[in-house]
Amino acid sequence: MAVQISPSILSADFARLADEARAVEAVADWVHVDVMDYHFVPNLTIGLPVVQSLLKHATLPLDCHLMIDDPDRYAPEYAEAGAGNVTIHAEAAKAPVRTLRAIRAAGARAGLAINPGTPVQPYEDLLPELDMLLLMTVEPGFGGQKFLDIVLPKLRRARAMVSAHGGAVWIQVDGGVDEETIERCADAGADVFVAGSAVYSADDPARAVRALREQAQRATAHATWAARAGS
Ligand code: DX5
Ligand code: ZN
Repeated sequence: MAVQISPSILSADFARLADEARAVEAVADWVHVDVMDYHFVPNLTIGLPVVQSLLKHATLPLDCHLMIDDPDRYAPEYAEAGAGNVTIHAEAAKAPVRTLRAIRAAGARAGLAINPGTPVQPYEDLLPELDMLLLMTVEPGFGGQKFLDIVLPKLRRARAMVSAHGGAVWIQVDGGVDEETIERCADAGADVFVAGSAVYSADDPARAVRALREQAQRATAHATWAARAGS
């Protein structure tokens, strides 16, 4: 199973975003962009104009995580702009099927995110509409928070659910993912790892990405779910 690393520029220097994206381009799979609107979460970051600018400079695909109140209205614009993946929150979407289809129709991968307190089972029927399921491992809104271990049982359930449907949907974890927690995430079933402070607070972000990938690959190689998926 392929491990993917998506460094979050939320912890980068916002005045030097192109350089910060370039710092990981040789070693990461995605650049994770956290879009926040002061409503869905108590923080305000960047929106479509900055994403459009970043798309001109970044060589890696952008993984846009929309923490906004009205994803049905705004998410397709990120896909149309050229984002590689657009993730909407289940708690915010009023018409998730329509919105996920619009994201795909615009040429991006479609992701659905759920907060730590949101159960995953109700979304089983939506799996055919998804390319990625994002399980938040902190309450969304800020970088540098402590990883919530209580999400791990849900992560195992999500992996079992995805496996039962053929395993094509990626499972991403976001929040508090670092050298201390990434192996537990890989072991429980994650295959796409967002890391903000663990990458951008490091002296050498590229080296941090390589180290996280090695840890995740080692843990995946020993994970029961991956052995089953590979057999
Ligand atoms: C939080 C964001 C995350 C954030 C993660 O709401 O969705 O992507 O950047 O930051 P760390 O890895 O520092 O927890
Ligand atoms: Zn995020």
